[in-house]
Amino acid sequence: MIRMKFTRSFMFLICPIMVLIFLYYSSGRLHLRTSVQKSQVRLDSLHSVGRVVASGMTTWMGKQGFPSFIAHQSFLPEYDKQGFLTKFDRKLPLELQYKYGNLSKGECKPGFTEAKMTLIYPKFSKPAPMFLDPNFKRLSKISSYPPPFGVKTQEKIIDHILLATKSYSLGSKLDSLSCKKCIIIGNGGILYNKSLGSRIDQYDVVVRLNEAPVAGFEKDVGSKTTMRITYPEGAIQKPERYEKSSLFVVSAFKPMDFKWLRHMVFKDKLRSMEGFWKSVARFVPRDPEDMRILNPYFIQEAAFRFIGLPHNKGLMGRGNIPTLGTVAITMALHNCDEVAVAGFGYDMNSPHAPLHYYEKLKMSAIKESWTHNISKEKEFLRKLVMGGVIKDLTNGI
Ligand SMILES: *[C@@H]1O[C@H](CO)[C@@H](O)[C@H](O)[C@H]1NC(C)=O
Ligand SMILES: *[C@@H]1O[C@H](CO)[C@@H](O)[C@H](O)[C@H]1NC(C)=O
Ligand SMILES: *[C@@H]1O[C@H](CO)[C@@H](O)[C@H](O)[C@H]1NC(C)=O
Repeated sequence: MIRMKFTRSFMFLICPIMVLIFLYYSSGRLHLRTSVQKSQVRLDSLHSVGRVVASGMTTWMGKQGFPSFIAHQSFLPEYDKQGFLTKFDRKLPLELQYKYGNLSKGECKPGFTEAKMTLIYPKFSKPAPMFLDPNFKRLSKISSYPPPFGVKTQEKIIDHILLATKSYSLGSKLDSLSCKKCIIIGNGGILYNKSLGSRIDQYDVVVRLNEAPVAGFEKDVGSKTTMRITYPEGAIQKPERYEKSSLFVVSAFKPMDFKWLRHMVFKDKLRSMEGFWKSVARFVPRDPEDMRILNPYFIQEAAFRFIGLPHNKGLMGRGNIPTLGTVAITMALHNCDEVAVAGFGYDMNSPHAPLHYYEKLKMSAIKESWTHNISKEKEFLRKLVMGGVIKDLTNGI
């Protein structure tokens, strides 16, 4: 009896306390939401007129004791299907202005790309290693997809390759930099005769794609090559055409590509070309220690999250493979403090412009692609350029 009474009075006491705690926390959350919304509204420069009205309303309502978040509700930032902000403000938010304010012009800004990407795409999560290392099976995002979006079914051959390459990073010199500027060189004719070579060579990491030549084109494309990302059909076929040193990075799009890489790593001449859509290199003049496997997460993320290509149950299908250039940019978003590109973008309006900077093939030779969706991909790259996440030296995007 006494015990029950005690329990009852205890309950009487505890109930109001719980209510108070609940009220305290929920009001705290409201405040939190208000300030988040305020800072997001600040981003939205195109709504500046609305903003003035809104902040006027806030003050007025604040005086009347209304919760100020109501005034902001119709000015919430809008996101597209992919999760990108639909309107960008090129101006740096105050906290970044402060962070980078003391750096001299052109100095590398630590964390800049990640900060800008997060502003236009709040879902961005930076950690994603550039290359596969022997712990790759722990990367949950790639273990559930077969190539090109993951490593499923290829674990054994990858283990075998990585045991021989022994190296899984950019190398000690670049690894030790506290801030890295990277540039991805596309192969577009738009690079031709722009004399960007010396500017390109100033980047810490210069990424080239497939068979893009350097020798003879230094004035326009620079002479430094940190890495060359390729798939078998795109790799340079003549050993003498490789630059003296660079990392040979394979972006595997199909199971056969891992088999090919194993041949290249073990200097095992490839006999059959079966399974490739055009002839491939039979020998790559690189030591195993200079070979890498690009993390396939970048293909997956570019396709399904950034561009919004059809998922097709996680298998390669019509129009759901990003181009190598976009895969390389995606890699750089995760691994570089600043990212620039050059040689990207086709000008469909000038069919007589050269398609590549190194050959006479004309724009008009480009065929409707089965695997890629160039126009959707360009929409994504434009968001990166418009949002100031990447810098486009040739203004083709
Ligand atoms: C920038 O420099 C000023 C003056 O030297 C200093 O007071 C301030 O803390 C610096 N800001 C940052 C972010 O380093
Ligand atoms: C290359 O650019 C220079 C000036 O920048 C110009 O004089 C020259 O005609 C251009 N060459 C070609 C082939 O377009
Ligand atoms: C590219 O995407 C657009 C829009 O989703 C679609 O209409 C078009 O058919 C796609 N092209 C290819 C080649 O898949």
